[in-house]
Amino acid sequence: MTQHNELDPVARTALLTAAQRARESTRADALFHDPLAATLAGPPGAGLLADFGDTPLISVRTRFFDEAIGRAMEHGSPHRLVIVAAGMDTRAYRLGLPGEVTVYELDRPEVLDRKERLLDGVAAPTCRRVGVGVDLATADWGEALAEAGFRAADGPTCWLVEGLNQYLAEPDVLALLDRISALSAPGSRLLTDFVPAALLAAPEARPLLRLMAEWGAPWLYGTDEPEALLAGFGWRAEVRSFAEVGEELGRWLPGGRELSGWVVEAAR
Ligand SMILES: C[S@@+](CC[C@H](N)C(=O)[O-])C[C@H]1O[C@@H](n2cnc3c(N)ncnc32)[C@H](O)[C@@H]1O
Repeated sequence: MTQHNELDPVARTALLTAAQRARESTRADALFHDPLAATLAGPPGAGLLADFGDTPLISVRTRFFDEAIGRAMEHGSPHRLVIVAAGMDTRAYRLGLPGEVTVYELDRPEVLDRKERLLDGVAAPTCRRVGVGVDLATADWGEALAEAGFRAADGPTCWLVEGLNQYLAEPDVLALLDRISALSAPGSRLLTDFVPAALLAAPEARPLLRLMAEWGAPWLYGTDEPEALLAGFGWRAEVRSFAEVGEELGRWLPGGRELSGWVVEAAR
């Protein structure tokens, strides 16, 4: 049985994310309801959230991508959603995606094992869900995805890369985008988020960056130009700041437009 202390520190951030989603789900003005998040976070996730503090950014991001997936599914009706670094993401269970949609979830095998064990007999996905255990930074995960049944030529794909890029070194971010792009037929959508490069250098971010480094999950990568980055891989990106999206949703996020982070909806 995989225990929380057998997850590496970056994998443990998936438990923090689940804990924040569990907390959000209890609010009267909740931005979404994730009834499985508390089970998936467990006491380890609650402990991480206690150290980290309430993080509305994860709530705003989750709601934004819930809606963006809806938009992507309406546009061109892709039958594949690939969640890269899925962690404790429960969208295959809670978005009501129809049975003809396949959700591929990529993450480290021990993360997916833990999730499947915790949800076994508790909940069933509404669509077809396929877990693909890989190391996204080193393995050729494209091959593993193909072995799991994914064919790029079958049509457009919606990709979701949420809460991952900051944990990768720049060459790994570029390699990831390269591989996603190579597997994306015309009409595909890419949904992702980035920490601003400016944040990594900002004095006010030092306590946060120190905490992440102490946890063994340092933030390594950021960009202030997501549009240009994605254009280099053939994507037309619409970029918004977390601050703007949060304001629309009635949630204040620190850092303003320049430092709060970027959410991206891209098409090709
Ligand atoms: C902050 S969590 C986000 C999880 C999920 N996207 C969400 O929003 O709930 C980061 C995730 O990235 C995964 N991850 C980071 N580096 C990885 C790698 N090299 N290979 C596979 N997964 C990785 C971790 O295991 C973890 O589940």
